[in-house]
Order: sequence, then C-alpha cells, then structure tokens
Amino acid sequence: MTEAAMWRGIIHTYRPFLRIAPIDPITLYEGNTPLLPAPQLARALGFAGCLYLKYEGLNPTGSFKDRGMTTAITQAAADGARAVICASTGNTAASAAAYAARAGMRAIVLVPAGRIALGKLSAAMAYGAAVLAVEGNFDTALDLVRRAVDDYPLALVNSLNPYRLEGQQTAAFEICDALGEAPDWLCIPVGNAGNITAYWKGFRAYHRAGRIATLPRLLGVQAEGAAPLVHGRPVDRPETVATAIRIGRPARGPEALQAVRESGGRFLAVSDAEILEAWRMIAALEGLFVEPASAASIAGLRRALAEGIVPNRPEVRAVAVLTGHGLKDPEVAMQTLPPPIAVAPDWDALRRILEGLLDAP
Ligand code: F0G
Repeated sequence: MTEAAMWRGIIHTYRPFLRIAPIDPITLYEGNTPLLPAPQLARALGFAGCLYLKYEGLNPTGSFKDRGMTTAITQAAADGARAVICASTGNTAASAAAYAARAGMRAIVLVPAGRIALGKLSAAMAYGAAVLAVEGNFDTALDLVRRAVDDYPLALVNSLNPYRLEGQQTAAFEICDALGEAPDWLCIPVGNAGNITAYWKGFRAYHRAGRIATLPRLLGVQAEGAAPLVHGRPVDRPETVATAIRIGRPARGPEALQAVRESGGRFLAVSDAEILEAWRMIAALEGLFVEPASAASIAGLRRALAEGIVPNRPEVRAVAVLTGHGLKDPEVAMQTLPPPIAVAPDWDALRRILEGLLDAP
C-alpha cells in the first residue's frame, strides 16, 4: 500500500471538516468501515430500492463510538486532561477505555449493574478502565457523571461532549464519499441520541461544502420499551433486549428531534421481537453479525416500508447503520436460536445427520 493510500484514522482524513485542536491524533485508525450493498436483505424486506449497510462493528473496539472517541480524547489530551469519565451502556465505556489507554490517561466508566453485555464489560476492564457498576440504569449513571465533572478535574466523554459529535459525523462523510451522493434515507438506532445528531451535522456540513446536492431523510429507530423520542416524554424504566439503547432520557434528545424534523424524516419504535428477527436476517442473508441494538435500523426500515413512510420504489437508496459488532453481545439474541445439533462421535451418526441436512430444501 502506498503512503498516500494508507488509512490513518478519521482525524487525519477529515481534519479540514473537524473543529478540533491541531495536535497529533490519539487514534486506533478508526473509521473507513465498509458500506455494503445488501440485495438479499432488501429482497426479504420486500424493498424495491437499493439497500446499503454501514458496518460500524468493524471499528477498532467494535462500535461506531471510536469515531467520536478519537476526537474527544485527542481534544482532552490537547487540554491537558489526565482522566476521563463517562456513563455507558457498554460501547462508549469500551471505546473510552481503549483511547484513554492509548493516551496514557485514566478512564472511569459508570455502567448499569448487571445490564451490560459481556463483550463490552470485559473489553473496558481489559483496557484498564476503572469500571463502576451503578445500581440503576444509564440515565442515573449519566446524572452521576454530570455531577462528578462539576467537582473533579475529569473530562466528560459522553456525547454531551461536542468533540464526540465532531468525530461521529465522519460516518456520514464516508457514506457520501462511497455513494457519490447522500442516500435518500438513513436508518439509525437511537439511544442517547448523539449519533443521529452527529450524522445530521455531517450531512449538512457536506451539503454546505458542495460535496452533496441533497440531504437525506433520517429514520431514527428506538426500541418500544425505551422510546422517549417517539412518545414525546421521558421513560422512567426503559426496557429492551437491545441493552445498548436502553435509555429513557436521551441527553441529545432535543437536537435529534430537530434533526429528524429538519430532514423530513421520522422517529419509529420497534418491538424486541422485530429487532431479533432483523438481527437474524442481517446475519443469515448478508453474513453480518451485529449486536441487537444495531438491528433496530433494519427493523425500523421494515416498519417504515410497511407504513409507507419510506417509499418502496426502485430509485430509492437507503443506508442502514449497523452500529456495533455481534461479538459484543452474543448471549441475549442467541437464546432465540435453536441450539447446535448434538452428534455422537462416530461416522454413522454424522452421515445420518448430513443426509438429513442435504435432503432438506
Ligand atoms: N447502537 C449501539 C450499538 C450503541 O452502543 C448505541 C449507544 C447506540 C446504537 C445509540 O447511539 O446513544 O448515540 O443514540 N450506546 C451508548 C453507550 C449509549 O453507552 O455505549 P446514541
């Protein structure tokens, strides 16, 4: 690979678009994730248009959070921070811990006790973060973090931190660079609402710069049991199988609502059953293993097609954001799959099973 072609992360690539201190980036070479056509999934959804999947699970710590963490931690380093803190349903914690490790900073992460996927918890611990398990949900943990940064010299790296959005908008840039245009619809899972806000910021920046001629409509998708932006009021006890988006009081809620309104898009809620069905389809039809929260984008697109929100026409281009890798959280969703087929350790037993499998339609 030539020097010019070597990927060195989102700050290096998109610096002119990013409002951030001009120091050497703290980076794990995040970004540059695939935008994959998904024709089989589109067919199964009955979608006549073009469907693409932005596979953010291929970022260094397995989620889109790395885009915002390279910018947040780089800025924190420029500001002389020694320690960072965040509340998290898991992915932000793992990402903050990794980038803090790289920057030589201490990371303190507050997570809801017992409600964080093992792949996220183990990563945050391995990267050396102090992991604090709060008896409460994400919203309670974020309240505590906001209090902590008032009293102690800690850099807040939740998406309330504007530098998080600076980085996360680069996913929108990459989508436009890959398509040569903005898509017609962007389908995205919403929890604390930072990511959808960042995407809209990115699309608008590219539009202003003349890189794209049109703006997409945003389809923000929440889980039914944690859908404050759909119902227009906070949810005290958010509940969903998609623990990543189990959030009742999104910190960036007002901006997300405005972004969706400006774009002419919609917020939708989908059930856990719809999320798990989409999760299976993404893996079995396109070979992409994602965490349950990520599948909300496809469950939402399916619902939006059924309700006529997204027009079902061949010229429509839709991008669904797959926010996190399936290895983060295999347990919950696996319970919905049949168990492995038990086979006795001899050739006859295997032969009978193979014949059954190969005869099956
Ligand atoms: N998908 C995944 C896999 C996530 O981890 C999150 C958020 C979202 C979607 C929603 O993004 O919050 O910007 O609207 N996870 C946060 C965390 C809350 O702590 O890791 P959002």
